[in-house]
Amino acid sequence: MSYIIDDNILEELKERMDIVDLISQYIDLKKSGRNYLGLCPFHNEKTPSFSVSPEKDFFHCFGCGEGGDGITFIMKKENLDFLEAVKFLCDKYGISLKERTRAEEERIRRMNRIYEINRLSARFYMDFLSKNKYALGYLENRNISLDIIYKFGLGFAPNQGNALSKYLLEQQYSEEELLLANVSNRSEKSGELFDRFRNRIIFPILSIHRKVLGFGGRVLSKDVTPKYLNTRDTPVFHKGSHLYGLHVLAKESTKEKIVLVEGYMDVIGLNQHGINYGVASLGTALTPQQGDLIKRHGKNIYICFDGDEAGLRATNRAIDILVQKDISPKIMVLPNGQDPDDFINENGVLAFESKMTQALSHIDFRISKVKNNFLINTPEGKTGFLQEVAHILSGIPNLIERDIYIHNICEEYGISLNAMKQEVDGIATVRKKQKFKKLKSIPKLRPISKLELGTIGAQRTLIAYGLASIDYFNQIKEIMEDNFWLKKEYEQVFEDIGIYGFDNREDSKRVYLEEYKEKEILNQKDVEEIQKIYIDEFNYENIIEECVQLLKISWYQAKREDLLKEISILEKDQTLEEETELYKKIIELKGLNQLLKEIKGVIQ
Ligand code: CTP
Ligand code: MN
Repeated sequence: MSYIIDDNILEELKERMDIVDLISQYIDLKKSGRNYLGLCPFHNEKTPSFSVSPEKDFFHCFGCGEGGDGITFIMKKENLDFLEAVKFLCDKYGISLKERTRAEEERIRRMNRIYEINRLSARFYMDFLSKNKYALGYLENRNISLDIIYKFGLGFAPNQGNALSKYLLEQQYSEEELLLANVSNRSEKSGELFDRFRNRIIFPILSIHRKVLGFGGRVLSKDVTPKYLNTRDTPVFHKGSHLYGLHVLAKESTKEKIVLVEGYMDVIGLNQHGINYGVASLGTALTPQQGDLIKRHGKNIYICFDGDEAGLRATNRAIDILVQKDISPKIMVLPNGQDPDDFINENGVLAFESKMTQALSHIDFRISKVKNNFLINTPEGKTGFLQEVAHILSGIPNLIERDIYIHNICEEYGISLNAMKQEVDGIATVRKKQKFKKLKSIPKLRPISKLELGTIGAQRTLIAYGLASIDYFNQIKEIMEDNFWLKKEYEQVFEDIGIYGFDNREDSKRVYLEEYKEKEILNQKDVEEIQKIYIDEFNYENIIEECVQLLKISWYQAKREDLLKEISILEKDQTLEEETELYKKIIELKGLNQLLKEIKGVIQ
C-alpha cells in the first residue's frame, strides 16, 4: 500500500518529532553544552563523538562522518528507504497518512511504465548511434566529443519504420503504452505501430533526477522538414515545464550563473567548451514555469538567443517572463546570424565569456533597441526616444532600481531629472490602473469557448496552432483525418506550413501570414486575428480537438443539406435507377445524421 507523503506531512513530522528523544531510544545521550553526546551507533568507538543538536534538529558523528535529521537516522538505523522511514515515524508519532486512491496508484503506475519505456528507448537510440558511422560522423563534424555524447545521452533513431516499437513490444510494453509515451504512432492505413522518430539524431530530455522525460530529434540532412521533432506532451512530459540541460547544470554547475539559450545544440555546444550552465526552453517561447525553474537553479541569469530577428523577439518575451518572476536578466548580444553554438565554436570560450561580461541589463538592452528607431540628433527624435525610455523605465518594479536608471539617462542625455521623473511616474500610475481594469474585466488566459468559435475562428485557430509548433501541426493533421477545411484558402495556408517548414517563432509567423496577405489568400483581418490567438500550451489538445470537431460538424451539416436537396428532387418523379439512387442517398443521410449526433455528443 502506498501513502500520500507531501510537504504537510513532513512539516507535521518535524513539529512532533524530538530528535534527542528519538535517538535516545537507540543510544545513551548525555547533555554537553547545547548538544547531546553519545557513542556512535554507526561505527565502533569507545569515546563518544556522536553529537545531536536539538536546535538544528540534526545529528553528526565526528568519527565516521554520518549525519542527518531524524528521518535519515531512522533510514540508517532501521534500514528503511525514505518513504518507509517516514511511514515508520508517522506511526510512532501518531500522524495518520492518507492512502493513495486506486486511481492515483494507477496513474503513478502508468507514469512509471512510461519512464521505463523512455529509458529503454534512450538506450536503444544510444546503442544505434554507436553503430552508425554516418550519424557519429555528423556529430564529430559538429565538434561534439564522445564524453559530451555520453553526458547528454545522445542517440540515433534508425531509419527502419518500426525497429524501436518492435523492440519495446517484445519487452512486454503494450501498444497503448507506446502511443501514450509517444515513442510510436499508429499508421492509419495498416493500423500498425511505427516509430515516431526515424533517421534523426536523438536528444533525450532529462529531468534533474535524470529521468528520461521525452525526446527531441534532429534531421541529418538539410532538406527534410521539420528540422526538429519533439515528443508531444505525455503523462510525464509537459514541454513548457522543463528546460533542456538542467540535469547537467543541477549536478555540475556552481549555480552562480545560468545562460538561457534557444536550442539543444546551443546547450551542447556550450558544454563542449566547458560551460555547464546553459539551458534551453524546449522549442517554445519561455513559459512562466520555466521561469520558476531558472530562478531556482541560478543566481545571475543571462539570455543568449540567436542573433536574428526571431531571437530578438524571443529575448523580449523571455525578459517579460523573467522580470515577472523578479529576476533581472542580462542580455548577451551575438553577431548577426549566429547562435551561441556557432559563436563559441568559431570564437572560443574566452570570447563567449567576454560577451558575458559585456552583457546588458535588460533595461539597457531595451533602451538600446528603441534607440535605433529614432534620429536622436533631432529634437523630435530625442523627445520620441525619451518618451519610449520613460515607458520602459516605468515598468521597473523596484523603485530604487528605477531611480538609478532615471538618473543615468538624464545624465547621459542632459535632461532635467524632474521632467523625466514626472513622465515615468505618470506612465506607471496609468499602467497600474489599466492593469487593475484589465484584470477585472477579462481573466488573462481565457479559454476559447465553443460558442465563441465560429468556423472561421476555428480555422484561424488551427492555423495559429499549426504555426506555433510542428507538433501541433502534426497533431492537427492527424485528427483532421479526411479534410474538413471549410475555406480552401485556409486549407492552403495550413498545408503550406508542412511544405515550407517553419521555425516556431513569433516573427516568422508574422512574415508567413503577411506573405499570404500579399498573395490575397488571407485578408488583413485574418492576419490580425491569427496573430492574436493565444497559444495555450497546457490545453492545446482540447483546443485543437474542439476546433476540428466544430469543422467536422459544419462540414457534415453542409453535406446533409446537399443530400436533402438531392433527395427531394429524386423523390418527385423517379425511374428505377433514380429510385436506387434515392435509397443510397437516404442511407447516406441516415449515416450522416448518426455521425453528427455522435460528434455533437462529444462536444456538447
Ligand atoms: N525547434 C523545434 N522545432 C523546430 C525547430 C526548432 O522544436 N521545427 C526548437 C529546438 O528545440 C531547437 C530550437 O528550437 O533546438 C532552436 O532552433 P534552431 O535555432 O533552428 O536550431 P539549433 O538548436 O541551432 O540547431 P542546429 O544548430 O542543429 O541547427
Ligand atoms: Mn544552431
